[in-house]
Amino acid sequence: VVLTQDELKRIAAYKAVEMVESGMVVGLGTGSTAKHAVDRIAELLHKGKLKKIIGIPTSTKTHKQALSLGIPLSDLDSHPVLDIAIDGADEIDPNLNLVKGRGGSLLREKMVEGVCKKFVVIVDESKLVKYIGGSGLAMPVEIVPFCWKFTAKRLQELFEHAGCVAKLRTSASSNGMENGGYVAKLSTFACSNGMENGGLPFVTDNGNYVVDLYFTRDIGDLKAASDAILRLAGVVEHGMFLDMATTVIVAGDRGVTIKNK
Ligand code: A5P
Repeated sequence: VVLTQDELKRIAAYKAVEMVESGMVVGLGTGSTAKHAVDRIAELLHKGKLKKIIGIPTSTKTHKQALSLGIPLSDLDSHPVLDIAIDGADEIDPNLNLVKGRGGSLLREKMVEGVCKKFVVIVDESKLVKYIGGSGLAMPVEIVPFCWKFTAKRLQELFEHAGCVAKLRTSASSNGMENGGYVAKLSTFACSNGMENGGLPFVTDNGNYVVDLYFTRDIGDLKAASDAILRLAGVVEHGMFLDMATTVIVAGDRGVTIKNK
């Protein structure tokens, strides 16, 4: 039997939810894989197999989903330490470093997943890469809208050695993955003109823009890359999640593999 990609995502998600115990504060991820985990947690709550779970959503979209399923919710102000978080990823390298944020929720994901005792990443095997950037998909960077072209250019220059191309994410280029973001009014921001990529800028849950970085070569030292990106004043956060995942659950045609840090 050949399983669809969505079935593999569900298998990984259900496996991760086995690690959730009653009474836990649980980070709820965002995306098509994490969605299955949220569904499963709600199902187990309704069946009485899990009790007293508190969910901390990583996006407005997940917040809505969890709310509609009746999962009790809270936030980092009330729960600054989480027992576990479960989320998908766009890329995973052999050292369990991740790229996240294709759905645009990287900032809240990083805030929530940075303070959990266990961070369980759930993927189908298509997400495994030899090195970060290796899938040819974007590494997203959330930036402030003010003079976004200036920031995008500086990001691209940082990674010239890796053949970097920086593109503003637009509503037309956001992969159809809505995160509850809305489309910006261009007149609001001095310097900005988001029309160049064929659409209005994609706007995150936090009112920011996303620049997608595409690499044709390995970017090298990830910690140095992270530091350099975060030093740029217009940058809010980037989508590399370094040294954060404690468990990765990979579902493939030949079964489930679990890697622990
Ligand atoms: C959301 O911003 C992302 O970080 C997602 O967690 C990531 O893009 C994985 O999404 P899928 O599970 O839909 O592939």
